[in-house]
Amino acid sequence: TVIDAQGLIALPGFVDLHTHLREPGREDTETVETGSAAAALGGYTAVFAMANTDPVADNPVVVEHVWRRGREVALVDVHPIGAVTVGLKGERLAELGAMARSNANVRIFSDDGMCVADPLIMRRALEYSRGLDVLIAQHAEEPRLTVGAQAHEGETAARLGLAGWPAAAEESIVARDCLLAGHVGARLHVCHVSTAGTADVLRWAKARGTQVSAEVTPHHLLLDDDRLNTYDPVNKVNPPLRAISDTKALREALAEGVIDCVATDHAPHAPQDKDCEWSAARPGMLGLQTALSVVIQTMVQPGLLDWRGVARVMSERPAEIAGLPDHGRPIAVGEPANLVLVDPKATWTVNGAELASLASNTPYEGMEFPGVVKATLLRGKVTARDGKVAR
Ligand code: DOR
Ligand code: ZN
Ligand code: ZN
Repeated sequence: TVIDAQGLIALPGFVDLHTHLREPGREDTETVETGSAAAALGGYTAVFAMANTDPVADNPVVVEHVWRRGREVALVDVHPIGAVTVGLKGERLAELGAMARSNANVRIFSDDGMCVADPLIMRRALEYSRGLDVLIAQHAEEPRLTVGAQAHEGETAARLGLAGWPAAAEESIVARDCLLAGHVGARLHVCHVSTAGTADVLRWAKARGTQVSAEVTPHHLLLDDDRLNTYDPVNKVNPPLRAISDTKALREALAEGVIDCVATDHAPHAPQDKDCEWSAARPGMLGLQTALSVVIQTMVQPGLLDWRGVARVMSERPAEIAGLPDHGRPIAVGEPANLVLVDPKATWTVNGAELASLASNTPYEGMEFPGVVKATLLRGKVTARDGKVAR
């Protein structure tokens, strides 16, 4: 294959630490296969599949299924994330060791959609993680402060009559877990940071030597709660779209390195779970095929990141955080490349129905975005080219 890369930018293949692939359990909304296609088209060469499947990925059988399907599809390296706790209740620590030692070789454990509210369970998980050399990631929500929450607690939610999700529900638990991680000498990863205050907590924790890393989603960089005026559930997501002052602070924290990387929180949902009343709708939005464009628009165009910085937040840092030695770095001579070629000048218009995901719940419908992925290569093999998956 010859690819004419004239005028294109070469970046290391992107690594997404936070993707919902919905397999097993909700294969009507996404599968390992369709999610892998979306990832390859978005420039990704590795994705971490979040644990809130049905059944929950709290045992070797489920994580090995996801891992095996990823290998069979072979468009992107699919790394299953294990659940920190058993089931969705979070009352008991899952068997992290059994999952880490399984064929799936689980490196990251998280509580997404589950929430480790109990500090003792979180402490034990962090202690356990040191010996296993795995990473505990947390969804960053104190669930006792978000009961019934429907939107960011602020002026917009008050005006629309939606129950509020306070910034403190995120900031308090991130502070708690930074302190716990520091105390036991473990690493911690914070999912989808959404408030200015959480960035402050992270800045403080890093300054005092805590081994903490953090991600921000593309949608929290671009969108704010001003969009809620139409009550369109496509904008419903956890954590919620915040105030515009938060958006600005998140961009600055990402540029500064206080927030390490971008992770999509790609969350496909069925039409019936989105085309309904706001309160009945499920939270979450698609992200894999739009992430790069949103990063260009929010970070590169305003001068907050250069292309080197894009490589850092989309690939290098997530690869380091997850411990993927063959991702996120310049290509060594003679080594098969994990690579994405981007046309920085081209633009495209988002059409949810045309995305590779089974679901189409994109908040960017009809928006024109900068940056087109021309080709993605996984270990030297083309996985996507000119908007089509290569098989
Ligand atoms: O918006 C979200 N969607 N936030 C989560 O924490 C879970 C996710 C999902 O699974 O849909
Ligand atoms: Zn989450
Ligand atoms: Zn998530």
